[in-house]
Amino acid sequence: MKILMLLFLVSCVAKGTNESALFRSVPTIEGGLNFATVQEFILGPQCVGCHAWAGDEALVRTRVVPGNPSASRLYTELASGRMPRGAAKLSPQQLKLVSDWIVALAGDTNPPPQPIELKPTYASLKVHLFERSCTMCHNASARRLPSFETYDDVVDEIEDIEYYLEFGEADGTPMPPLDRDGNPRAPVPTKEIVEAFKQWVVSGMPKGE
Ligand code: HEC
Ligand code: HEC
Repeated sequence: MKILMLLFLVSCVAKGTNESALFRSVPTIEGGLNFATVQEFILGPQCVGCHAWAGDEALVRTRVVPGNPSASRLYTELASGRMPRGAAKLSPQQLKLVSDWIVALAGDTNPPPQPIELKPTYASLKVHLFERSCTMCHNASARRLPSFETYDDVVDEIEDIEYYLEFGEADGTPMPPLDRDGNPRAPVPTKEIVEAFKQWVVSGMPKGE
């Protein structure tokens, strides 16, 4: 019954009612704790809006040391309260869910899914650049902003995108923009990512792998 209630709340939030305060509690899960559970109760409702990587097990696993929550960036950012940015700290129950999953991974004999390697291809840049740093704002439902969600969107806007990535800003406005405290509102692309992007443009923006 309790689980059904929570599922109902998850679907409310997915439809856009902002009720993350209702996520203070998670059901007690006996055994079989897996990525899907962590995603359903924490990463999906609280993180994916800012971090596309939080929707991809392989990319989440790059932030985890199996068996060792306190060495795992995923856990330390949450335990310190730095994440979720701009929202209440996770409850002790929610933190325990994340830490139990990390501990359980130590006994997981399946190899972790492989994250997409950073290389000058659209498939790679979609994950490492656009979904990580841009499409939480530049998407098809944003009315005033160009979308960078698809290959065609990106090609249409390529000159403006190149300009921002080359100089980090235009007319004094950086991309990703800063919040009121002066922190970037999305992860800033690293030099390596910008370099892969430039190589992709120089090679004629191939669409395939
Ligand atoms: C309102 C936007 C926002 C929300 C919501 C948010 N974050 Fe973040 N997060 C950021 C920003 C901005 C950074 C800083 C990125 C940087 O400096 O590269 C960051 C950095 C991180 C980092 C360290 C950098 C990395 O890529 O590993 C982790 C881990 C992280 N967040 C986890 C989470 C988790 C887990 C949640 C959900 C419980 C979450 N965040 C919710 C904006 C957010
Ligand atoms: C947190 C939201 C947010 C993120 C993340 C973000 N942008 Fe923007 N972007 C904006 C807003 C808002 C504007 C309009 C700024 C203005 O008019 O001064 C904008 C404008 C732009 C423009 C100019 C569009 C035009 O029609 O003039 C480009 C190009 C751009 N962003 C590229 C990027 C790139 C590339 C990334 C990822 C590296 C990115 N942005 C990440 C919010 C965002």
